[in-house]
Amino acid sequence: MNYPVWDVPFLGSGLVVAIIAVIHILISHLAIGGGAFLFVAELWSNRSDDGMRIRDWLHGYATYFLVYTTVFGAVTGVGIWFAIQLANPEATSLLIHQFVFAWAIEWVMFLVELTVLYLYYYGWKTNRRGYQTFLAGAYFVIAWMSLFVINGILTFMLTPGGWTLQNTDIVAGFFNPGYFPSLLLRTVFMFLLGGLFGLIVGSKLEDDDPLKEKVILFSTKWVLPAAVLAPFLLWWYWTTLPEHAVTLAEGGVAGLGGGTLDAIARHLLLVVVASAAIVCGIVIAAVRPKSVRPGGAIALFLIAQFGVLGAEFFREMVRKPYVVHGVLYSNGLWTEQANDPAHLASTYADHARWMPAAPDDQLDHGAWLFRLQCASCHTRDGYRSLKERTEAWSQDFGPQWLTRMDEGGVMPPFDGDAADREALSAYLISLHDEAHPPNREADAMVRPGDQAEEVSP
Ligand code: HEC
Repeated sequence: MNYPVWDVPFLGSGLVVAIIAVIHILISHLAIGGGAFLFVAELWSNRSDDGMRIRDWLHGYATYFLVYTTVFGAVTGVGIWFAIQLANPEATSLLIHQFVFAWAIEWVMFLVELTVLYLYYYGWKTNRRGYQTFLAGAYFVIAWMSLFVINGILTFMLTPGGWTLQNTDIVAGFFNPGYFPSLLLRTVFMFLLGGLFGLIVGSKLEDDDPLKEKVILFSTKWVLPAAVLAPFLLWWYWTTLPEHAVTLAEGGVAGLGGGTLDAIARHLLLVVVASAAIVCGIVIAAVRPKSVRPGGAIALFLIAQFGVLGAEFFREMVRKPYVVHGVLYSNGLWTEQANDPAHLASTYADHARWMPAAPDDQLDHGAWLFRLQCASCHTRDGYRSLKERTEAWSQDFGPQWLTRMDEGGVMPPFDGDAADREALSAYLISLHDEAHPPNREADAMVRPGDQAEEVSP
């Protein structure tokens, strides 16, 4: 509420962040797991009789790996920064202020990681063997350290643990209850991705090439730790979730096909189905290594991407309605403010810095309230559409519903007085009025100054 709003039609800003993040997660985890793969494969080639051939094959792996992780990893990584600061400036600011040195370490790690990877790749023909193996190992350790750092910040958002606004203890926030289960889960998942990537590159070898069998078998072993450990780690992670999140998730699971949040259950189901499919695929590959084709191997990789999608949306959903659990709601309202009845009941424009002071047009006023209080999770007529969800609203019902909107536990309380509620309700109802569709141009992101000009005739 202290910042302008990024009003993305149809998708909503949150979904834009989620789409970029889901792609980035797969790449960034591969960037670490693939490092471990390179290192162990270097050791393997040093000890094998056909070490030269293995290294030739490994060069192919390293080429795809380098292009995929550095180009797409860097683009999506910067994309996340770009998108989160627009979608959620208040939360981005909180994270930067609390974890400034962690971010600094993260960026240094990233720089060193890339440098080492380039030294490794471009020194392929000239570096001594021992040095190459060392570089591959160093790359993995540094890349994993960057996970060690970012994991603290990511888990903090769902399980801030002992950290509160009064006790901003960084160590408590960083090594929060979700930290270790998440770190281990991500680590075994990284190995899985490294192996699946090996399967893709290995599948391109000729069927009658004895190396194909060796490489495929080597790659399948990387999936094992995830297959065996993931259920236990997931359970451990589950036990660290805040009570509120567990209630939300269980409500969703119980209400599969009915409850309002059954989406949570669907996401979890996606993770389970994706994992099962990968385990089946890997067993087949291990039994008949020569039969592995690029199409099948790429399909397994894409299935892993769907698993990530499920897991990320699950994490995102159980965090509702917060962006930092128990501290900051996703629409920028602080729980401190929400717990203060005087604050909640006062006129919204009096405490929201980007709200035009007193829009004289009620629909326009309502549109601003929508942007500032609802648009972080809803769109007008696209993702989680409010047009659809308020279909049955009347001007009697709407304002009343808004006074109780936080009761379900998935939304923040409404912030504003009776006139604000009337205006928002009128605006949402106006979305149904086909004869007077909301003015698209006025709906685009406008700053209060511009808005004032538009409003006054
Ligand atoms: C933190 C995210 C979040 C914010 C902010 C939020 N909502 Fe929701 N809303 C949800 C979720 C999650 C659901 C339930 C799942 C669904 O319906 O997709 C929901 C459901 C709804 C529903 C249908 C629920 C029912 O009981 O019929 C309405 C209506 C609604 N929201 C209106 C609003 C309005 C108006 C605002 C702004 C004042 C708002 N929401 C702000 C997340 C949010």
